Amino acid sequence: MTFSRISVVGLGYIGLPTAAVLASRGVDVIGVDVNPKTVDTVNQGRVHIVEPELDIVVQSTVNTGRLRAVGTPEPADAFIVAVPTPFRDGHQPDLSYIKTAAASIAPVLRRGNLVVLESTSPVGATEQLCQWLAEARPDLRFPNHGGNPGDIFVAYCPERVLPGRILRELVNNDRVIGGMTPSCTEAAKSLYRLFVQGALLGTSARTAEMAKLTENAFRDVNIAFANELSLICDRVGINVWELIELANHHPRVNILQPGAGVGGHCIAVDPWFLVAMAPDEARLIRTARQVNDHKPAVIVARVNERIAAKGIRSVAILGLAFKPDVDDLRESPAVAIARGIAAGNPSVRVDIVEPYVDALPQELASLPNASLVEVETALSRADLVVGLVRHRLIAEALERLGAPPIDFLDFVNFVSYRR
Ligand SMILES: NC(=O)c1ccc[n+]([C@@H]2O[C@H](COP(=O)([O-])OP(=O)(O)OC[C@H]3O[C@@H](n4cnc5c(N)ncnc54)[C@H](O)[C@@H]3O)[C@@H](O)[C@H]2O)c1
Repeated sequence: MTFSRISVVGLGYIGLPTAAVLASRGVDVIGVDVNPKTVDTVNQGRVHIVEPELDIVVQSTVNTGRLRAVGTPEPADAFIVAVPTPFRDGHQPDLSYIKTAAASIAPVLRRGNLVVLESTSPVGATEQLCQWLAEARPDLRFPNHGGNPGDIFVAYCPERVLPGRILRELVNNDRVIGGMTPSCTEAAKSLYRLFVQGALLGTSARTAEMAKLTENAFRDVNIAFANELSLICDRVGINVWELIELANHHPRVNILQPGAGVGGHCIAVDPWFLVAMAPDEARLIRTARQVNDHKPAVIVARVNERIAAKGIRSVAILGLAFKPDVDDLRESPAVAIARGIAAGNPSVRVDIVEPYVDALPQELASLPNASLVEVETALSRADLVVGLVRHRLIAEALERLGAPPIDFLDFVNFVSYRR
């Protein structure tokens, strides 16, 4: 199958880099987004998200005319759908964005087109997408798992890039590609071959959907193990970092590092899709989510106890992002912890250090005792330091300034246990 024009629906953290990389391979790419500001920004050759080198690729592909953005889909040979899939109340997956995207591309679909869903989705979402498209286009035949070929090829291809390395990983990572039928898988493989150097691993749509959820649940369960260990160690007075270092000398043990919880919009969200699909069976996965979600409350309680016991007047909080060395605050446990500490202690000054943002998020900016400061300022006037995100920039500053001689609740091993 050949592609001279590809449409990417949803120009966020996944869709925009995908559109730009495809355009850089000489394909005409039409990016579609419901947000007019995003469409304008991209058409000016600029980006609305922080991702290394993305600005350069977007600017050059817009300048050469290979990439342009629109608000409403236009005809193309293939459509890649990368719209959000959050959860609703009760942790149920919300597929309404996929439904809206399906309604918008249906009118421009032509016989022989390929539609690929990239949004992280519960098992069965690609079949559901086919159904929505079929309802909107009764004149076209859509494939089904019975192996019936259709007029349109439909596949699922999950994304597994790491923010901060998206452009490199888009090209180098292996991709799981699950077609509704084997010919759909082959059609989708020919699209990804345009820019992926990693292996293209063919399977069914349902297995591909499950693969993405499995990868993120695996990470969540392993982080929960480390977080639970940190609580047990706290209870029995053992240094968890030393413990993990020692245990990892076992040739078949590799325990992750505990932290402030789990954030971001992938690992903190996707395992719930498995729980929603199989609530009686997904017991470990549900518990892992609960363990990780509970960690911020434990940290707030520990810090608040210390503030009360020692009559502390000034606290420094190190890190706000959902993980080290990124600017992304979405679902960040550190934001919730900072808020719990500042809101719970209105007479205590809370200095927050986050080198990757230039303003506090609204839930913190609205608290009069919380402010964003440089690491030097925070350390110079804190009675208590709370380490939440092990950013390289903060770790280097601590190294430079020497291990803080003050009270330090270090939840992410800023200062190595060996000191
Ligand atoms: N960001 C990641 O690191 C990552 C990694 C793997 C998988 N994913 C998955 O990829 C999907 C997209 O994630 P993201 O981080 O790019 O989200 P995002 O919020 O950054 O971007 C989504 C974009 O889609 C647009 N949009 C919403 N509805 C639309 C519609 N009907 N038509 C056109 N545009 C529409 C939004 O305006 C937004 O610009 C999600 O399912 C997510 O779970 C994300």
